[in-house]
Amino acid sequence: MNLEGKVAVITGSAVRIGRSMALALAEAGADICIHYHSSAQAAEETCDEIRQRGRKAISVSADLSQPVSAADTIFSAVMSELGRVDVLINSASVFENKTLKEATETDWDAHLDINLKAPFFLCQKYAALLCSNQPGHIINIVDWRARRAGIGHLPYRISKAGLVTLTECLALELAPQVQVNAIAPGAILPPPGKDQSYLDQRAAGVPLKRAGNPAEICQAILYLLHSDFVTGEILTVSGGEQFTAGA
Ligand SMILES: NC(=O)c1ccc[n+]([C@@H]2O[C@H](COP(=O)([O-])OP(=O)(O)OC[C@H]3O[C@@H](n4cnc5c(N)ncnc54)[C@H](OP(=O)(O)O)[C@@H]3O)[C@@H](O)[C@H]2O)c1
Repeated sequence: MNLEGKVAVITGSAVRIGRSMALALAEAGADICIHYHSSAQAAEETCDEIRQRGRKAISVSADLSQPVSAADTIFSAVMSELGRVDVLINSASVFENKTLKEATETDWDAHLDINLKAPFFLCQKYAALLCSNQPGHIINIVDWRARRAGIGHLPYRISKAGLVTLTECLALELAPQVQVNAIAPGAILPPPGKDQSYLDQRAAGVPLKRAGNPAEICQAILYLLHSDFVTGEILTVSGGEQFTAGA
């Protein structure tokens, strides 16, 4: 897909990796809907940076723990203010390290609602809005942990495993009109509350001996958006960490 003049919706794109993706797609010529929940000021700043690149940007706040109403809010704003939608990237996420002993029903609800049900209802709404001959792309941001057994992060890991399955199923259900892929990052940014030492510790166990960075996730996003013959793919960007006995 040539991104010039296209419109992309990116959830959780006021900050961190989502923000980098928004700026990369704007550089490639797309207008952007910045979705956020609590990062209102960062959302405005990211919109300003996009406008400085000559592209349109809007910001929309929606709580993805209310998946159906959030999808309505986001796409109503996109259609009324940007007039079309071509690309959906589901990046917003919660990430809690809960074991079998620790995880509560509240933890389960948060992870399933935000990490899995919200992408589902956003995909549903997005697909309904595409015109009959309009090609589209959905990219879901998962995690290499989604496809590997491990201890801890249980509701997170399982929500992302569900998102992998959703990716693969929608690649079939929405073909040939929409390509549906996922990116499975490794250690890219320390989780909120952790610092660089968290990444340094992880990096020691990564075959390529370093953490990744948001630019490397953007490179993978642009590869998928520019590839017309790739769908149902889970593209791992982890320096090989998925083959280790790591986290
Ligand atoms: N960081 C990594 O190294 C890494 C590794 C593997 C996978 N990933 C995946 O990559 C993606 C981006 O990761 P990240 O670390 O940059 O971001 P993140 O910290 O996982 O996600 C934070 C984003 O999610 C949004 N969010 C959280 N709760 C929300 C809610 N209830 N409603 C709406 N939005 C909500 C936040 O919005 P506000 O700030 O506006 O509240 C924020 O934009 C995620 O899917 C993550 O699982 C990241």
